[in-house]
Amino acid sequence: MQKTTEKKDTDLNDIMTMADNPEVIAFSGGLPDPALFPEKALAQAYQKAISQDRGVFQYHSAQGNLQLRQQLANRCQKDGQINAQAENVLITQGGQQAITLIAEMVLSKGCGIAVESPTYLGALNVFDQYQPNYYQIPLDENGMEIDKLAEQLELHPEIKLIYTVPDFQNPTGTSMSLTRRKQLADLAAKYQVYVLEDSPYRDLTYTGSQLPTIKSFDQTGHVIFISSFSKILSPALRTGWVIAASDVIGKLTELKAASDLCSPEITQRSICCYLTDNSLDQHIAQLCQNYQKKQKVMLGAIKDYFPSWAKATSPKGGFFIWVELPEKLDAGKLLIESVLPKYQVCYVPASAVYAGASKKNGFRLSYVGNSPDKIVEGIKRLGTCLKHV
Ligand SMILES: Cc1ncc(COP(=O)(O)O)c(C=O)c1O
Repeated sequence: MQKTTEKKDTDLNDIMTMADNPEVIAFSGGLPDPALFPEKALAQAYQKAISQDRGVFQYHSAQGNLQLRQQLANRCQKDGQINAQAENVLITQGGQQAITLIAEMVLSKGCGIAVESPTYLGALNVFDQYQPNYYQIPLDENGMEIDKLAEQLELHPEIKLIYTVPDFQNPTGTSMSLTRRKQLADLAAKYQVYVLEDSPYRDLTYTGSQLPTIKSFDQTGHVIFISSFSKILSPALRTGWVIAASDVIGKLTELKAASDLCSPEITQRSICCYLTDNSLDQHIAQLCQNYQKKQKVMLGAIKDYFPSWAKATSPKGGFFIWVELPEKLDAGKLLIESVLPKYQVCYVPASAVYAGASKKNGFRLSYVGNSPDKIVEGIKRLGTCLKHV
C-alpha cells in the first residue's frame, strides 16, 4: 500500500510487440475472441444506419447520439441498478477515452490517486501523464481492501481520485463484495473524492448474478461509472460510455469536445440499430459460454502443469487469471529471458500492472483469445519453464 511515483519498466506497447510473432502463444492481450464477433448482425446494422439518412456522415453533439444514450441509460437501470437518464450518459471512444477525460477533469500534477494493487495498465498509462502520487491499495478475494483505503484517505487529503475495476478485475479477475461496494460509495461521499468505477467485464458473468454497481449506492454524485462495447461486441467500435451526475457529464462533455469534437455518428447509429434488432443479452450469453469453457481448460492445465507454488485465481467471469509467484521471482525478467525466447509464450508481467513497477512476482493470463488446444499447449510450456527456474 505504499506511495510511489516511479516509472513502470514494462509498458503495453512492448508487450504487444513481443507477442506479435505468430509462433508465440499469447496469453498477454485483453483481446476478445474474433470468431465471436457478431459480424453479420453488425454489417446489417451499419447498412441500416447508412440507409436511414445522410446525417450519419455528419458531425454531431459531443455528448453523443440521444437514442444510444437512452438505450444505455435503460440498460444501466436494469442491470446496474443505476437511476440514469440520457442526460447522465456521455458516449466516448472506448472506456480508454473515458478514463482519459476523467483524469483530465480530476487530476493535476503531483496530486494523489488511490489505485488497486495491481490494476489495469492502460489506466496507469493515463494517470502517469499527471505524475501523481500513487497510493496502492491491496486486493484480496473480495476486491480492494476498503479499510486500508479509508486509512489512506484519512492520512492524505491530496487524494483526488479512487480508481477501481470492481467486476472481474483486470488483471486479477477478482470482484468487489457487496459490502465493500457500499463502503466505497460512503467513503467517496465522506471524503468528497471521485470514484472511477471502470467495469467493462461486468456483463461477462459466468456464474451467479451480477452485484449492484458502486454507482447504485452513490448519494452525492461522487461515483463515475464507465463501461464499453469493446469486450461484449467489438473493440473496433471504439465506443464506451460514462454514467455520472449531470454536472460531471457537462464537464466531461466539454473536455470531449475539446479532444475530438464528437464520436463517429455512423458507429453510434449502427450500435443503436444493432441493439434494436438483436438481443445483446443473447450474444453475451454465447460469449460467457465460450469463455467459461476456455477458463476451465486453462485452470485445469494450470493444475496439471504448473508447480504447486504458482497460485492462480479462479474468477467467476471476465477475461483474466492472475498467477502469483514466490517473492524472489521477477516475472518480467523471466518473460524476456526465457518464457518468450525459449518457450514462445507471452503473458503480462506484474511490473506492468503495479504502479511504479513496485511488485514483480506475478503475471496475468488471458484465456479468451486462444483455442482450448493452444491454451493447454501454452500452459504446458509455461509450466515447464516455471519448473526450471
Ligand atoms: C479495465 C479496463 N478498462 C478500460 C479498458 C479500455 O477498453 P476500451 O477503450 O476498448 O473500451 C480496458 C481494456 O482492456 C480494460 O481492461
